[in-house]
Amino acid sequence: MIVYFSGTGNSRHIAKNIANISQQSIVNMGELLKNGKSLPENPSNLYVFVAPMYAWKLPRVVENFIRRANFSKGSKAYFILTAGLASGNANKGIYALCAEKGLECLGCACFTMPGNYIVLHIVPNPDKQKQMIAEADKAIKPLADAIAQAKPFDDVPAGPTGFLSNTIIDSMNNLFYRFIFKDKKFCVNDNCISCGICEKACALNNIKLVEGKPKWLGKCVHCMACISLCPKQAINYGKRTIKKRRYFLNG
Ligand SMILES: Cc1cc2nc3c(=O)[nH]c(=O)nc-3n(C[C@H](O)[C@H](O)[C@H](O)COP(=O)(O)O)c2cc1C
Ligand code: SF4
Ligand code: SF4
Repeated sequence: MIVYFSGTGNSRHIAKNIANISQQSIVNMGELLKNGKSLPENPSNLYVFVAPMYAWKLPRVVENFIRRANFSKGSKAYFILTAGLASGNANKGIYALCAEKGLECLGCACFTMPGNYIVLHIVPNPDKQKQMIAEADKAIKPLADAIAQAKPFDDVPAGPTGFLSNTIIDSMNNLFYRFIFKDKKFCVNDNCISCGICEKACALNNIKLVEGKPKWLGKCVHCMACISLCPKQAINYGKRTIKKRRYFLNG
């Protein structure tokens, strides 16, 4: 069973391709979270978790979802991350999570995809996006074939930040959650047409339309779905995102 979390479509894209090739069922963790549900039954006991990388690690929302889930004895899992700048650092936390949950980890992989974090970065131009997605697509087949046969695969080598120790990564990750992954700076301008797309897109149910305009409720994970999907570019994050290109991969 492929279980994916995706704010702006990259992880969903990789998850769908893996599901097609490996003939596995596919589940959207975002929908489960939105509706307060947990993982459905999985007779194969084989899981493939696909998610974006947030601050060098698996997103906490994904980690906590897995922590709350019940897995049968003998369950096995792969972890596939998508990242703006691939790095192997997330693997360390993933192994610890697997040990905690009694999951046998069959492999971790990371795909470099267009970066979506417009709060801090600039989204690559459309040509570069196409090139990055095409390169990632080429690398899916061998992984999906291994998954179809439940074969372990070698971890991808650590990327540019791979030399950093667990302690440094954990400290930086903590700083991001403490000071940056907050929703106080989200705001909406007069271009808003009260369509409700942002409210619907938020897997955390962190947006409520009040008098037709979004209000953020304080439990944001910075997935970038709302700001990226707004059809009128009416949402901004303070002044940091004004006139910046948004990123969303459909399909
Ligand atoms: C909150 C946040 C933190 C991120 N942190 C990292 C990071 O530490 N390293 C990295 O390479 N990319 C980082 N990114 C970029 C995303 O991991 C990347 O664009 C990913 O493919 C987005 O997946 P999605 O479209 O499925 O949401 C971050 C993005 C967000 C929204
Ligand atoms: S998606 Fe944009 S236009 Fe639609 S309600 Fe939200 S802010 Fe308004
Ligand atoms: S409020 Fe926006 S950025 Fe925050 S979790 Fe919801 S959709 Fe993602």
